[in-house]
Amino acid sequence: MPVRIFLLFLSVFLLFGGCQLETGVRVIKMGHAQVVSHPVHQAMVFLGERLEEKSGGKLKVKVYPNQQLGTERELIELLQIGSVGMTKVSAASLEAFSPEISVLGLPYLFRDDEHISQVLQGEIGKELLLSTEKFWLRGLCFYDAGKRSFYSKTKPIETPADLEGLKIRVQESKMAINMIRGMGGSPTPVSYGELYTALQQGIVDAAENNPPSFYNSRHYEVCGYYAIDEHTAIPDVVLVSSEVWNDLSEEEQRWLQEAADESAIYQTQLWKAAVEEALREVQKAGVKISYPYKEPFLEKVAGVYAQIFQEQKQLEALVQRIQQTTK
Ligand code: GCU
Repeated sequence: MPVRIFLLFLSVFLLFGGCQLETGVRVIKMGHAQVVSHPVHQAMVFLGERLEEKSGGKLKVKVYPNQQLGTERELIELLQIGSVGMTKVSAASLEAFSPEISVLGLPYLFRDDEHISQVLQGEIGKELLLSTEKFWLRGLCFYDAGKRSFYSKTKPIETPADLEGLKIRVQESKMAINMIRGMGGSPTPVSYGELYTALQQGIVDAAENNPPSFYNSRHYEVCGYYAIDEHTAIPDVVLVSSEVWNDLSEEEQRWLQEAADESAIYQTQLWKAAVEEALREVQKAGVKISYPYKEPFLEKVAGVYAQIFQEQKQLEALVQRIQQTTK
């Protein structure tokens, strides 16, 4: 009997010791909504590899794609309570957590790609990343999510007039709802994972997104028209739960921040090729791509801005700062 007890103790001790070694390794769960072929997924895997390397294997990231852990909204809430450690969401999904971040959903906000990176990589970008901290979410970096354009089932959306009478899927974002309404369509919020079926079943007639998302989500199988009007340039945001962040040592925090920054550079490199591939492939599959004049859409912008400033006065000064950013 004492021998058996001794053996029991020994096995528990060994198991515990093994676990100690194992638990010396921290695995951070990271969920997101895209499929694995999407460049953001590849960037997140890269982030994990960089973190593992920097920490000598002590910190790892396990990436769960495809809304396996929840929609973007649910993922944000899971981060707040620390059940999920990290995520990558569209800045549009963060509106409820940071009124400042909603500015990024304004149509035709940026002059060009250089302006986007001046704003996001500069002071304003830093402020926006930290603006969700009071909600237990820490923004680590932005990922490029290109420009969003309309895709539709029965006719191309060449002018705002083509939006009339159409149900347009929008992200769960007040800014997007205001924009579509201001342009003349009927906005219908649907989560990204449910959009394929919503389009197929005619719950919505059209949607809008960047080329890699249009392609990787296979929405092009249902929508034969893609009109590149590039109305918004809403970036993605990589977030860590404050629960997890505060639990890391200063050195570990630095490793995580560096790994995220490096993954953002990698993701930008992947992005351009992903856009080209997406446009090529959807065209091959029969999608008619058009490049509408932007002016008629731009004409609607003043009204959209006025409406938004009426509801969120504080955004006016931020928009001015963004417009005045030149380096
Ligand atoms: C983009 C963005 C996603 C988001 C999606 C959407 O693809 O990168 O994070 O889920 O838009 O329209 O919901």
